[in-house]
Amino acid sequence: MNYNTEILSPTDENIEKAGNLIKSGEVVGIPTETVYGLAADATDPDAVSKIFVAKGRPQDNPLIVHISYKSDIEKYAHDIPEIAYRIADKFWPGPLTMVLPKKDIIPEVTSGGLDTVGIRFPANAIAQKIIKSAGVPLAAPSANLSGKPSTTTAKHVYDDMNGRISAIVDGGACSVGVESTVISFSGEDVIILRPGFVSKEDLLSVADNVIIDKGVLSEMSEDAVVASPGMKYKHYSPKANVIIVEGEYDKFLSFFEKNYSEGVYAMIFGNETTEFPYPHFSYGKTDSEQAIELFDKLRMADDMNAKTVYVRCPSKDGVGLAVYNRLIRAAGFEVIKL
Ligand code: TXA
Ligand code: MG
Repeated sequence: MNYNTEILSPTDENIEKAGNLIKSGEVVGIPTETVYGLAADATDPDAVSKIFVAKGRPQDNPLIVHISYKSDIEKYAHDIPEIAYRIADKFWPGPLTMVLPKKDIIPEVTSGGLDTVGIRFPANAIAQKIIKSAGVPLAAPSANLSGKPSTTTAKHVYDDMNGRISAIVDGGACSVGVESTVISFSGEDVIILRPGFVSKEDLLSVADNVIIDKGVLSEMSEDAVVASPGMKYKHYSPKANVIIVEGEYDKFLSFFEKNYSEGVYAMIFGNETTEFPYPHFSYGKTDSEQAIELFDKLRMADDMNAKTVYVRCPSKDGVGLAVYNRLIRAAGFEVIKL
């Protein structure tokens, strides 16, 4: 593992190059609308193993398989419930992953030893072209070192993956900013295993019953048997100690005043920066802006050598729930209620 990692602009020629690298068993960083992914041929166990090495990822954490035609779902999954087709019609291509019983063509290393597979049809046009060019389904986890915040620009990917993968296709900044909503099914019920841009409210427009798995908001122990293995690992963590602070702006300000010292930063909302008199950075005013900026700002905390970051708590509705879900993991579940 000592690659001369190339950054490729998304020209037709470079997309073909990326497709060829993937076909030949290599790992390539690719843009999607959610976050950048580390893509390899999902049907090739050796290629998929390289992803785990590049990321330093635990082997029992399954990868999402990315497709570029809705009908491909039937190549990789079986016993697909009716509701899954209705959801695919409404939300694909888009930031949504469906966990379904897997066919044998998906090797165990891709599914983390599970008999299910997570499938997603991304909306990003460059991602779609790369999948088509490779001619194989792409296994792709988020393109960060395991445990670190996810990557939403090619530069973030380069910072984590330089020397570890063959190339990165630069598609600019991701438009959603947090990873896809991951769902599974129980009969006709939909279970949200990981919240994302497609919210519970969105899913209720197609499904009668949508349940949020308990792992979304609470801490799971390392040896717990969980519906989605990714939920039990420490995640999205900058080196700084991240602490979420719940409460009104005025209370936050006086709390910060009492706790401020060298190396302590506030992460506040985008409309609050002019008034805030202490070292700070901001992460957007609305929940969708917060989703777009979250990982960049967590990474920025490390660039600034922050020791502690007190974060204004986002709303827990809509995509805000996805932002909160990532933040409580970055914070090791440390939330202060004022
Ligand atoms: O937006 C995304 O989903 C991005 C982009 C690159 O597509 N990918 C991504 O992959 O976030 P990753 O590997 O970082 O997160 C995948 C999550 C993990 O929490 C994993 O446990 C869960 O999805 N997952 C994958 N396959 C699963 C399965 N068969 N059963 C349950 N959970 C699964
Ligand atoms: Mg990830």
